[in-house]
Amino acid sequence: MSRAAVLTGLGTFVPPRVVTNEELARTLDTSDEWIRTRTGITQRHWAEPGTATGDLAVAAGERALKSADSGGVDLVVLATTTPDHPCPATAPEVASRLGLENAAAYDIAAVCSGFVYGLASAAGAIAAGIAERALVIGAETYSTILDPDDRTTSVIFGDGAGAVVLRAGDPAEPGALLGYDLGSDGSLKDLILVPGGGSRQRAAGTAGAGEPGPRPADSYFSMQGQPVFRHAVTRMAASSLAMLDRAGWAPETVDWFVGHQANVRILHAVADQLGMARERTVVHLDRVGNTSAASIPLALADAVTGGLIAPGDRVLMSAFGGGVTWGSTALVWPGVVAN
Ligand code: ACO
Repeated sequence: MSRAAVLTGLGTFVPPRVVTNEELARTLDTSDEWIRTRTGITQRHWAEPGTATGDLAVAAGERALKSADSGGVDLVVLATTTPDHPCPATAPEVASRLGLENAAAYDIAAVCSGFVYGLASAAGAIAAGIAERALVIGAETYSTILDPDDRTTSVIFGDGAGAVVLRAGDPAEPGALLGYDLGSDGSLKDLILVPGGGSRQRAAGTAGAGEPGPRPADSYFSMQGQPVFRHAVTRMAASSLAMLDRAGWAPETVDWFVGHQANVRILHAVADQLGMARERTVVHLDRVGNTSAASIPLALADAVTGGLIAPGDRVLMSAFGGGVTWGSTALVWPGVVAN
């Protein structure tokens, strides 16, 4: 019998500092009304300077491990766009700080699809017998890469982390991940881009003595909103349908759609394309903004804690992000309590 990855723990953390639309409108040419009506976001959380992605990942990971049935893990997969350093990966230090001695640990860079890619990667390791139990974390500090003068990105993104524990189990039991649909189209990589700081383009001003100074403009996050919006709807809908086909579920039998929390208009458009009632869409972005790789576990935990998702419910997850990348998975909710 094949081994499935079964969800057995869920934990989240957002930094305490709340940044409201009104606060942003004091320094940017924007308004609470524009942000709310165009995106659905009313506030987001931003980490204080000095707090890194790894710190949020440790906090969420600790809570997920507490929420899980028992035991540690032998694999840590961290999905992030905002690692603590370009080198090394953030996951090994997170594993060490969580006391997960000698666990295999690596980062995944699939931007907003990172958490779903992370689930698929960890589940593959479990199915292959490489790991028995895995901690999959999505964690981001977008506040560290946003251009404070760019109203098109600063109002959208927030910081946070969400994590799940997976264990080897039976494909028929509640909590078993029922398959994956993953894809990418790298010809669209310029739609979501941090141009500098990699091997193609060193960050401006860092070639010399490497002295501390103002952040170079090419190390900021940029996004072409309108084409991203269109591709997000098309790809998340197609990927969701492929996943539903794999699970053998008709769209109208899905209890909750937990889509990447980019924009409430995107979530509703995907629900419309799937023929699902919009009320079946979990919406969490109003309180935390777009938290990229952290958005699906944060939305999932919010819906579980708020009593929306109940044991036995059919849950479909789908994401779209930079790369461009997309991915979907599904499970029957196992009754895990979020921490
Ligand atoms: N406040 C006020 N006006 C603004 C703001 C703002 N914060 N931002 C843009 N505008 C203006 C624009 O300049 C434009 O003005 P113009 O008509 O005079 O040129 C107008 O508002 C409309 O701009 P659009 O970009 O057309 O606005 P749109 O309705 O497309 O909303 C948004 C922009 C929210 C970014 C939307 O395109 C979107 O959600 N895109 C998808 C984002 C997404 O899915 N991201 C997921 C992947 S991200 C990742 O992987 C990291």
